[in-house]
Amino acid sequence: MKKIITLICAVLISISAPVFAKSVKIGMVIDDLRLERWQKDRDIFVNTAEKLGAKIYVQSANGNEQTQISQIENMISRGVDVLVIIPTNGEVLSNVIKEAKRDGIKVLAYDRLINNADIDFYLSFDNEKVGEMQAKALIAAKPTGRYFLMGGAPTDNNAKLFRQGQMNILQSKIDSGDIEVVGDQWVDSWLAENALKIMENALTANDNNIDVVVASNDSTAGGAIQALDAQGLAGKVIISGQDADLAAVRRIVDGTQTMTVYKPIVALAQRAAEIAVVLGNDDTPRVNSKLNNGMKDVDAWLLEPIAVDANNLKKTVIADGFHAEKDVYQ
Ligand code: GAL
Repeated sequence: MKKIITLICAVLISISAPVFAKSVKIGMVIDDLRLERWQKDRDIFVNTAEKLGAKIYVQSANGNEQTQISQIENMISRGVDVLVIIPTNGEVLSNVIKEAKRDGIKVLAYDRLINNADIDFYLSFDNEKVGEMQAKALIAAKPTGRYFLMGGAPTDNNAKLFRQGQMNILQSKIDSGDIEVVGDQWVDSWLAENALKIMENALTANDNNIDVVVASNDSTAGGAIQALDAQGLAGKVIISGQDADLAAVRRIVDGTQTMTVYKPIVALAQRAAEIAVVLGNDDTPRVNSKLNNGMKDVDAWLLEPIAVDANNLKKTVIADGFHAEKDVYQ
């Protein structure tokens, strides 16, 4: 009899034990939903996190760092368990993250590192490699000539990593004189309209004599190509990009953009959702890298980017279902 009672108790305990982790409340604060890239990230992240039982609040700062700080404060007062931050400016969040940590909130830096702050995790791609891929493709297309460097948003840590990667490849060619750098500008907020103006000025300053534009992503490449087009130079000037935005892969098909870097956002956003839920349950996510953010070595997970041009577009971006073939080849 005693045995039977013990058995029944054991069964009851196992039934009442929590099968599902607690429902985690996540605040996702996004730099700028005006850019196509981040809309994809949001959709996939929210979808996956909801399937994992989480409740998600989303806000976009539209490129304004003060707005982003207020949005983070707002998430803190809503009592979220985890903050997932795509920082507008990775240098200005130390204080607000201190507030979050005081409330026991976990912080995941999504795609862009947050410097000098006590964050719990960083999830991204190997961003230096992105820059290397861009420079390698440009050199393959035009090994010598007049190069214009177009960096991303100066407040984005990734923009610096892309440039670092580009220079890893370009520096020896610059030193040997094969490549002449005819200008170097950074594009505020990564906006196409800012890139357009920069490119117009660069063309004027160089009498249209530019062979290559080292553009760090697709939105800025788009603006630059518009300026090139106005001078009849689209398709003649070699230009890089990143994100495999629909407009960019169409330009690759048309021959006005040389390459892009495809970063499987589905993998990133799904992994981010899993990590956020793990953090929200006070567990430790798996790590494949560590990056120092000025305050500490941050646990990180870095995914692999893929260089894409007209030759492997079908095998990569389309095969993955990132864009439908009918949308790309109109
Ligand atoms: C970077 C990101 C890129 C690009 C850019 C503009 O931080 O890694 O993929 O989208 O921001 O938003």
